[in-house]
Amino acid sequence: MAGTDPIPPTVEWRRGAVRIIDQRVLPGRLRFLDCADVDSLVDAIATLAVRGAPALGATGAFGVALGAHTLKTKRQVRAAAARIARARPTAVNLGWGAERALRAYEHDGRDAALVVAQAIAADDVRRNRLIGAHGLSLVPVGGAVLTHCNAGSLACVGYGTALGVVRAAFEGGRRPSVWVDETRPLLQGARLTMWECDRLGIDARLVVDGAAASLMQRGLVDLVIVGADRIAANGDVANKIGTYGLAVAARHHQIPFYVAAPASTLDLATATGDAIVVEERDPDEVTHAGTRRIAPVGAGAFNPAFDITPARLVTAIVTECGAARPPYRRSLPAHVRRAAEVVTPGP
Ligand code: MRU
Repeated sequence: MAGTDPIPPTVEWRRGAVRIIDQRVLPGRLRFLDCADVDSLVDAIATLAVRGAPALGATGAFGVALGAHTLKTKRQVRAAAARIARARPTAVNLGWGAERALRAYEHDGRDAALVVAQAIAADDVRRNRLIGAHGLSLVPVGGAVLTHCNAGSLACVGYGTALGVVRAAFEGGRRPSVWVDETRPLLQGARLTMWECDRLGIDARLVVDGAAASLMQRGLVDLVIVGADRIAANGDVANKIGTYGLAVAARHHQIPFYVAAPASTLDLATATGDAIVVEERDPDEVTHAGTRRIAPVGAGAFNPAFDITPARLVTAIVTECGAARPPYRRSLPAHVRRAAEVVTPGP
């Protein structure tokens, strides 16, 4: 199946380098970027050449393997792992992947770090297919789904989480259609989700972020489904800025609001969303559309990349273990426990 996937893997190991799809130039070009040293990999993460929580998990692990293969001392590899984990603060998967590869390196050397990274990558696709299998029945036949940002194949190693649920519904003959929020300021919806839907043949229409509540008011949305960067123990969800507003609007219109994420995105060590660090990015991303300035010179801007959706607005959280329902403090721990058993660890 992987060989016939119309979307190549987002991240993989190629001849001593970490090869990623350079998402900064999509949808215009499908370009691959080979990061042959830790500096270029950290830059790729910070500039969103590779992004999305599960993709960052695999990239973090491959990054440590890259450090183990290119740096001279253990101390340098440890410092590289710390730099990679800090490159973006909100997605828990990044530090999780880097930490797992570092542990393998410390115990068994550089090849072990690479084995762990390869296993995380292979595992990601299997887990996402399970998320899709568990979530597809949430999509009614002919249903209209609204999604935000990109939680598809490009946000993972393959298949996708929230968009993976839509994909599974599509492959299961449910004929879903998708409203895709453009997702200002970096347009992951317009550039990436629309590109994926086009490649997969899924019926999708792009809307400006401000249109979402109005679509709900007009009865044009059956469910909302999004991914997550980090989910706290109580079920509060950190995801792309704009997600909270969607959840508020969905609740007002009595539309189910689902989150799809692998168990590696569940952060049970963080009690509530209040403790989640929200990345603040360069205000220039707001004052510009790409390289074109859209606000007056000197205009002030604020650019939080994520927001926190309170658990009470989340209808269910779909993981590779099934759909967790509230109260999440009670339902999520079993997903973390069972996650180790639902797939045979690769490679
Ligand atoms: O800034 P990004 O593009 O990395 O933000 C990504 C998101 O917010 C995704 O929704 C999230 O990582 C889930 S991806 C399966």
